[in-house]
Amino acid sequence: LWTPGNIIDDSIAKVRDQVGSDAVLLGLSGGVDSSVVAALLHRAIGSQLTCVFVDNGLLRLGEGDQVMSTFARHMGVRVIRVDAEDRFLGRLKGVTDPEQKRKIIGNTFIEVFDDEASKLDNVQWLAQGTIYPDVIESAGAKSGKATVIKSHHNVGGLPEEMNLKLVEPLRELFKDEVRKIGIELGLPSEMVYRHPFPGPGLGVRILGEVQKDDAVTLRQADQIFIEELRRADLYDQVSQAFAVFLPVRSVGVVGDNRQYAHVIALRAVETLDFMTARWAHIPYDFLDLVCRRIVNEVPGVSRVVYDITGKPPGTIEWE
Ligand code: XMP
Repeated sequence: LWTPGNIIDDSIAKVRDQVGSDAVLLGLSGGVDSSVVAALLHRAIGSQLTCVFVDNGLLRLGEGDQVMSTFARHMGVRVIRVDAEDRFLGRLKGVTDPEQKRKIIGNTFIEVFDDEASKLDNVQWLAQGTIYPDVIESAGAKSGKATVIKSHHNVGGLPEEMNLKLVEPLRELFKDEVRKIGIELGLPSEMVYRHPFPGPGLGVRILGEVQKDDAVTLRQADQIFIEELRRADLYDQVSQAFAVFLPVRSVGVVGDNRQYAHVIALRAVETLDFMTARWAHIPYDFLDLVCRRIVNEVPGVSRVVYDITGKPPGTIEWE
């Protein structure tokens, strides 16, 4: 019988059997899959688990604190938080090509993760949030983005000499099952039902070269959009929603002053599989409210636009 409770009991027994008294390492991104693995492994093996959470400076507002508060403070999971903002932004300096940005972010992530991992003694296992659709995808050896996505979610570049064996407790599960298990394990529902967030994070939502100041601006605008979506009960009705930073300037009047400042684009889509999507027809009044808040509250933004491109022909992300 499939119940979240049964699946959890089963997985716990399997994991205990698999790793014995060995130490296990997990790259925690704050996304649903790695979060559920963290909660599950914590229940199964407690202090044998160490998580590494890399703050690359491209996370959403308050995301790092949220991860630390959920896992480290409330659940007592051992989480090492690595502040790697300077390293990531340093590497991205002068880089404008989206695929190159992705590659740099992915590689830097692996480097930082390796550094942390090599400081730990005696780790024999690497846990990953691989779920069933990932297994199918990589079996099909698809080219293009799917592979790129996996390459930095599943840390593929660990040094040979570490020779870690894999623990993948979600390998047989679909996303909705993973979510049910997450809830049963006591993860907050805002975390379990979060919209997907790309591995390269705000790095592909700041068009062109990534600047620290622009990330600060984007985080604030994005936060307002998401907060209002939740307040209006629209968050769960759309599949993914976010703000994008456009590195162009536009003239506006804020208060009595003429402003020549940046433009924020808002994107919200409805989709089942993220392969095709329609732009979410969210109410004009709602867009109006979000636009006003962003222009009034976020310094350096003079204009907000809403993206009405479907996929195809557009992609969901702007880069
Ligand atoms: P696109 O933009 O291709 O996005 O229509 C489809 C879904 O994939 C996410 N996405 C990524 N996820 N690394 C990721 O982990 C990436 O490089 C990446 N690019 C896009 C996107 O957010 C959407 O959910």
